[in-house]
Amino acid sequence: VTRRSLPPDLALALDRAGAIPLSVQLADALRAAAGSGSLRVGERVPATRALAVELGVSRTVTAAAYDQLVAEGWLGPRRGSGTYVLAAPAATPSPGGAPVDAVPDHPEPADDLRPGSPCVAVLDRRAWRRAWRRAGDREPAGRPEHAGVPAYREAVAGLLLHHRGLDVGPGSVLATAGTTDGFAEVVAVLGAAAGRPLRVAVEDPGYRRAVGVLRTAGAEIVAVPVDDEGLDVAAVPTGVDLVWVTPAHQYPLGARLSVARRGALVARARAEGFLVVEDDYDGELRYDVAPLPLLAALAPDAVVHLGTTAKILTPSLGAGWLVAPPAVRESVLARRRATGVRPSPAGQLVVAALHADGGLARHLARLRRELAGRRARVVAAVGASGHAVRGDRAGAHLVVPLPDATTERAVVAAAAALGLVVDDLGAHHLDPEDDARRVHGVLVGWAAPPTAALDAAVSRLGTALARVAGMSGGGAVSA
Ligand SMILES: Cc1ncc(COP(=O)(O)O)c(C=O)c1O
Repeated sequence: VTRRSLPPDLALALDRAGAIPLSVQLADALRAAAGSGSLRVGERVPATRALAVELGVSRTVTAAAYDQLVAEGWLGPRRGSGTYVLAAPAATPSPGGAPVDAVPDHPEPADDLRPGSPCVAVLDRRAWRRAWRRAGDREPAGRPEHAGVPAYREAVAGLLLHHRGLDVGPGSVLATAGTTDGFAEVVAVLGAAAGRPLRVAVEDPGYRRAVGVLRTAGAEIVAVPVDDEGLDVAAVPTGVDLVWVTPAHQYPLGARLSVARRGALVARARAEGFLVVEDDYDGELRYDVAPLPLLAALAPDAVVHLGTTAKILTPSLGAGWLVAPPAVRESVLARRRATGVRPSPAGQLVVAALHADGGLARHLARLRRELAGRRARVVAAVGASGHAVRGDRAGAHLVVPLPDATTERAVVAAAAALGLVVDDLGAHHLDPEDDARRVHGVLVGWAAPPTAALDAAVSRLGTALARVAGMSGGGAVSA
């Protein structure tokens, strides 16, 4: 249920003549309301636009106040679009007298179709344990390895060559703690070199953690639309420093960036002097569709390539990689040396050990088979409920397109009533209320649920879709 206005007992008196910015006053008032219990943990707060109208302030004021409270951890997105009270200030007793903690939000994998988590079910536990033991066989390094564990960098170079067609030696690979962390390092060094806020183009809808990194770094973020050929390269404005893109499988819509657009993007990068960040988060996962050349292979001088083990193994390894033009790579290394902050080697040692005896290649083959089969089951089940799917035969999620935000919210709510958590596209837009930009639908991720639970979960989604179609009096929705 969307909360369209604030609770009536919540007096938000803003002092328009005062010296304190309205956004700060509003953040203070909302924080206090969460502390006093007038806004309860788990409750949905109004959309920034609705609240702006209610309070008679500009939307920048409400957005800035929410951004502040999100950064502090009191507000946050949960279960699809919308902003919720996640926690109340710790010292404040809850209405029941006990301290208020963050709302637990860990549904069972069997009840969770949100994309993002890997398929740990197919991981051979014996090979996994063996790799951890082998990781301990290595002599402890006496000095920090800022570029990463050498055997890991070799393993990644092998993975890139055999699975992604990118021929770079281990010397060109830097270990990272994951995509997001590697991106944060790149943004930090580029921002420091520029000496001003970076101007960065991102896909919209797109990956919100990348946006989070950019917000934290104070970058100016420019939203660029995406369609069934991926990022609309012609819509990238001039004058950007960086373009963030997910060419292998646009996140979240699922298109692969077309060959023509790949060429156009790197040609523009070279001509205009910007860098492209290629987030290849699930590039190893592709089913019966031809591989397309990596941007990093087309233009190694203009592309920062980011990869991760979070989708093919587990995010708990904290192991990713970065391949970048030498100047960027050296700046990242220099920053690591200067700050002493570098990715932890433990997960890298495990990946290297898994790679060494062929276990990683075997795992990838098994993973592809399993995920291809799951995708087919999901497509069949969604199709049987009369709905279309959107997204290429790749990765581990697809989109069920819906006609509008009301239907989207209704499907998320109907799924929740059946105990199922699904994510909608609203949460992946920079501004979910920008109707001109907005793409509507729900996401279906099929990697994380246990094999036996997937069909039941997708069938509950089918029920939710059917209930909403019935409520709106319409039949099947397709795109
Ligand atoms: C679009 C996208 N990029 C990257 C990642 C992986 O990020 P990390 O390696 O930081 O866990 C994810 C995982 O959810 C993702 O969805």
